[in-house]
Amino acid sequence: MLIYMPNSPEAVIAMLACARIGAIHSVVFGGFAAPELASRIDDAEPKVVLAASCGIEGAKVLPYQPILRDAYAIARHSPVATVYWQRDEQIADLSADADHDWAELLSKAKAVECVPVAATDPLYILYTSGTTGQPKGIVRDTGGHLVTLNWSMDGIYSCPPGEAFWAASDVGWVVGHSYICYAPLLHRNPSVIFEGKPVGTPDAGIFWRIMAKHRVRSFFTAPTALRAIKQIDPQGALADGHDLANLKAVFLAGERTDPDTLEWTARLLQVPVVDHWWQTETGSAITANPLGIEQLPIKPGSSTLPMPGWNLACVDEQGETVAPGESGAIVARMPLPPGFAPTLWNAPERYRQAYLERFPGNYLTGDAGFFDEDGYLHVMARIDDVMNVAGHRLSSSAMEEVLAAHPAVAECAVIGMADALKGQVPVGFVVLKAGANVSAEVLAVELVAAVRAQIGPVAAFKRVHVLPKLPKTRSGKILRKTIREIADGEEPKIPPTIEDRSVLANIEAIFA
Ligand code: COA
Ligand code: AMP
Repeated sequence: MLIYMPNSPEAVIAMLACARIGAIHSVVFGGFAAPELASRIDDAEPKVVLAASCGIEGAKVLPYQPILRDAYAIARHSPVATVYWQRDEQIADLSADADHDWAELLSKAKAVECVPVAATDPLYILYTSGTTGQPKGIVRDTGGHLVTLNWSMDGIYSCPPGEAFWAASDVGWVVGHSYICYAPLLHRNPSVIFEGKPVGTPDAGIFWRIMAKHRVRSFFTAPTALRAIKQIDPQGALADGHDLANLKAVFLAGERTDPDTLEWTARLLQVPVVDHWWQTETGSAITANPLGIEQLPIKPGSSTLPMPGWNLACVDEQGETVAPGESGAIVARMPLPPGFAPTLWNAPERYRQAYLERFPGNYLTGDAGFFDEDGYLHVMARIDDVMNVAGHRLSSSAMEEVLAAHPAVAECAVIGMADALKGQVPVGFVVLKAGANVSAEVLAVELVAAVRAQIGPVAAFKRVHVLPKLPKTRSGKILRKTIREIADGEEPKIPPTIEDRSVLANIEAIFA
């Protein structure tokens, strides 16, 4: 079953209803456009789609039905039914035979018993960005994952049953699956579900109000959310007057926590702030500070130590472990812990190639970093073309595919440039086809619109530059990393195999 719903209790009810009858669910984040939704429909082939008539972002109403209908028009696979949770702000049209009203079906439904499943049966598929435009369908199995989540509520989050847990994320992401839906409810913790943003819905004090109102004990969000609050309310004045005495810790993931944000949050809330490292593939933290076992010293910039079941190493190109302090690709030695994705939906060979082939006997995490002298891990960057925009994992290749499809574009590159709020934002570079008759301004508007229409607003693709040529190696590989280093104001590491060094001057001029 595919679930296309905003962050709401109904979305969690939909997920749990699937789990109850042994159906596999696949939640698609609301910020994706119709073609992305269609590619997930074609890959997962859902019998039924559970949808909402709209999402709500403060004063903004985001209708879901037009996106769903556009996706159906593109997709090869047709679900037999779509069930809409109707919201007063925007009513979906249910005149088609295959469209149903959630409330009406529910009023006639009979309760059913839970269907037992094997521990190794899939619980859900969650699509995430990889190095190609085609998203990866991460499969999560049932038994080991739930055992890991249940343990983590005590071991990592130190949140006894009955105490409120709040993951200010979205059910469309892995953090939402694990810590809005399954872990707190399994462990008998109330789970706070908030459909809104840290700022603007309606203001930068909303997090503190919700925490106080629900007596939240453990709070989980992405660093970008706190940076958004800090930008508007640097003194944290909006937290004044809220009783946050029950708050015992803040947990951050989705991107590296910059030390400044960690220290600002710790100063404001006077609780431990834990940066912990995660991936959709893992379903729970790989490294963390296990507060429920023992609070280890917090080092800003590090996500602390490997959690039970994880045996990690930083390795060089040859797969040799590098010395403490030296950077390398982060790998996990086999066997992998319970809860780790056992395969990719419809793509077991891609699973082997993407994760297991580069360093046999190891899972290639796709992240690079280093262990320090105390064994603390510092996760620094991706080693592939995946970028992280406001805690959302996005593929540069997917955006490049959209740019390349424009009739005036001969070739292109998309990089993730450092951004003070979102961590990274995508920036596109295009070379025009000979004879293309379009101004750079018009082209930029068209390309920005195309990425929004093809991938979705969540890509936050707003900037594109026209270049006479892209920097490449003599074998034709585009030097995306070099472009990114220039954009970020770093000293670029220029490979000796560069085809034409003078091309870099155009990029330096843009970011001068
Ligand atoms: N449904 C429909 N559209 C959505 C959406 C959803 N669920 N989520 C985001 N969008 C749209 C937004 O409306 C926005 O559209 P716009 O370009 O028309 O304004 C666009 O996608 C980008 O949204 P967002 O990435 O949220 O950026 P923002 O500038 O509006 O807000 C932050 C910036 C930092 C406040 C926000 O990204 C944030 O809270 N991030 C935290 C992310 C997070 O929790 N990640 C989970 C990992 S733990
Ligand atoms: P996702 O699969 O969407 O959860 O994104 C996973 C990716 O986000 C990781 O591979 C990292 O690149 C990044 N990431 C998540 N948490 C952290 C963290 N605490 N520190 C550094 N990077 C992180």
